[in-house]
Amino acid sequence: MSRKRFAPSSRAAAVVTGAGSGIGRSLAYEIVRRGGSVICADIDKARAQETADLLNQLGSGVAIARSCDVGKEKQVAELADAAPDLLGRPVTLVINNAGVGAGGRIGEVSLKDWRWCVQVNLWGVIHGCHFFVPQLKELGYGGIINIASAAGFAAAPEMTTYNVTKSGVLSLTETLHAELCGTGVHVTAVCPTFVPTRIVEDSRLPESRKNFAGAAMSKWALTDADTVAAKALNAVDRNQLYVVPQPDGRLAWRAKRLLPALYARGVGEVYRGFVH
Ligand SMILES: NC(=O)c1ccc[n+]([C@@H]2O[C@H](COP(=O)([O-])OP(=O)(O)OC[C@H]3O[C@@H](n4cnc5c(N)ncnc54)[C@H](O)[C@@H]3O)[C@@H](O)[C@H]2O)c1
Repeated sequence: MSRKRFAPSSRAAAVVTGAGSGIGRSLAYEIVRRGGSVICADIDKARAQETADLLNQLGSGVAIARSCDVGKEKQVAELADAAPDLLGRPVTLVINNAGVGAGGRIGEVSLKDWRWCVQVNLWGVIHGCHFFVPQLKELGYGGIINIASAAGFAAAPEMTTYNVTKSGVLSLTETLHAELCGTGVHVTAVCPTFVPTRIVEDSRLPESRKNFAGAAMSKWALTDADTVAAKALNAVDRNQLYVVPQPDGRLAWRAKRLLPALYARGVGEVYRGFVH
């Protein structure tokens, strides 16, 4: 197979974490639509099973539900060990998607919520890369997609917990992309802004912020989970490092890079306007 033509999203043997809902479910669906099979891993087995059942209506045996807490090293190690047997062939595509929302002002967010968010969003992706990258390297082709967020660079106030984890995911993905250059394994980071899913409902945000985030999500979401999933898979096929799927995210991305000091002041002033 020519490396130039290789498209990891086509007929993939894939693992998607957090596949029981939202973007993860859409990713799993799109993988199956492109002729692949997928392990739908989620901390909530019932949700993972629901996704697998939906996908298996498209073609039997294409999806397998698996319970896995990505924050737990042992569970991700077991998933990585079991995956080739479950799929009946080596894993060719890994999507570290599972994530949770937490936030509040620095000094007021509880350390318990900090730890929870870091454990799932950052350690979850570290575990996924740690246990699956060696398999892909050995195979000599494949793809890894890490679902980061525009929060990883936008520095929105009162979202520090989440922002920190997503900056970490971006940095990890950038480094991995460099390390795997020329190996045949493609690496992509996805940075959406608002996408209507369960994330706010399941988050640990203060109640007033939860209401605000829920309203923002329905007012400002410029795309849906299916579109984000398709863009993510198209990007990994091209070995494109960054995907910023929405125009508001691309605006923040460019403003921060071109005018970092002005961007930081602007964010502060807008925030001051909101809270006073
Ligand atoms: N929805 C958005 O606006 C948005 C924006 C940018 C980035 N993201 C990112 O997209 C990814 C998917 O989120 P979503 O919006 O689809 O949310 P979602 O809540 O709809 O889905 C997340 C899934 O992850 C699962 N999960 C939670 N903790 C887990 C754990 N420890 N181990 C395994 N699975 C776990 C949940 O059960 C759920 O099924 C996350 O990484 C999120 O940070 C979302």
